[in-house]
Amino acid sequence: MSGHASPGSFTGTSPVWLKTPDDVNALVPELWSATAEKTDGVLTVGGVAVPDLVANVNTPAYVLDEADFRERARAFRDAFTGYDVYYAGKAFLCTEVARWVQQEGLSLDVCSDGELSVALRAEVDPARIGYHGNNKTPMELRRAIALGVGRIIIDSFDEVERIASIAAETGMTARVMVRVTAGVEAHTHEYIATAHEDQKFGFSISSGDAFEAVRRLLAAPNVDLRGLHSHIGSQIFDSSGFEVAARRVLALQARIRDELSTELPELDLGGGFGIAYTTQDDPSTPKALAEELTAIVEHECRGFGLAVPHLSIEPGRAIVGPSMCTVYTVGTVKEVALDGGVSRTYVSVDGGMSDNIRTALYDADYSATLAGRTSSAGPVLGRVVGKHCEAGDIVVKHEFLPGDIAPGDLIAVPGTGAYGRSMASNYNHALRPPVVAVRDGESRVLVRRETEADLFATDLG
Ligand code: LLP
Repeated sequence: MSGHASPGSFTGTSPVWLKTPDDVNALVPELWSATAEKTDGVLTVGGVAVPDLVANVNTPAYVLDEADFRERARAFRDAFTGYDVYYAGKAFLCTEVARWVQQEGLSLDVCSDGELSVALRAEVDPARIGYHGNNKTPMELRRAIALGVGRIIIDSFDEVERIASIAAETGMTARVMVRVTAGVEAHTHEYIATAHEDQKFGFSISSGDAFEAVRRLLAAPNVDLRGLHSHIGSQIFDSSGFEVAARRVLALQARIRDELSTELPELDLGGGFGIAYTTQDDPSTPKALAEELTAIVEHECRGFGLAVPHLSIEPGRAIVGPSMCTVYTVGTVKEVALDGGVSRTYVSVDGGMSDNIRTALYDADYSATLAGRTSSAGPVLGRVVGKHCEAGDIVVKHEFLPGDIAPGDLIAVPGTGAYGRSMASNYNHALRPPVVAVRDGESRVLVRRETEADLFATDLG
């Protein structure tokens, strides 16, 4: 896998990775979807000029590059030959995207009843759905089993009991996996690391809980235990975490073989593959990832004398993240003097933490560019902020923007496809923006902008 510059080092007011651009109008292609380009300063995605698009749908808007999404999905499918690739719908899901996932030959990972309903609405084959969650209700489990969901990922002893009793009582087969925590400290933000011990997901391998969960599930009637599942976290660039996790998970697989006389046929390595939000990130290609992960698993299996199980992965961000950008209109511009005679230009846009919570929640970095015109002004150090009543309402912490940026300008933020719309909120009664798919010069609203009527639909007055 590739790298991420060490965060946190600053020169004065901006991080060291942020270089003053030679041309403040230029796109950095690595951060954008494949069809994004600029002509005379006008951003075009999927052959659609962004100013034309927003003339129809207004701002803020998420612009989804369909060809790019499909291409990334195919790249994972083709690179991970022999694997099942589950697109992690939590990153972004709507009915049409669920169809694309199925059309491109991927399976789908859902983690709630709502996501499952979207998948069914798109007529995704239930056998190709994986169902996650640390607190699925008995009703949700019943529904999943009745539908014939391909695999339910079991996350607690309470769930072992629930699933066993539903399967026994209904006589229907529950196909399940056991989510384990390998005790790996993934190098990512604490809130999105999931394989260390002190958090809510999975069964610990080291405490013996994971083995015990497997033992109980193997003994339960009508429960078909397919294998172990290990997801170590998100926005990860370094394969050492996967390597340590694979070793521990396969050690457990060997113990299950030795003590329970069962070699579980499948293994899921989870998702979490990092993408480039800014120039400091240098992600791997699916092909390189596939080679690395396969080599790791094959090596560890050899060591334990195990057959290589049927493998699967669950990328979300690495498929949809770079496929979308968010377009905003600049409302106010304020230059704020900082210590040392320098200043920062605060550019307020018509969205903010309600359409992208990641900056506030994970201290995430993004980039931005002027989307509707070219500028001959020199670059100034800018910060793109939202319109919410909160100082932490920041979209892009650090970016060089043209010095003449002004109210009415359009700006676009790339890499917002994953966990942008899916974690959007109605904070301050904001209306969540639309998702507009673009392809071959055509645009299509997949998710419409919310209206006041949507807000009032639940406020009974
Ligand atoms: N599989 C499992 C079991 C997961 O929990 C997740 C993400 C994925 C796959 C997909 O991970 P991805 O490939 O998208 O990184 N909201 C956070 C990320 C939380 C991810 C939760 N689980 C963010 O915006 O960074």
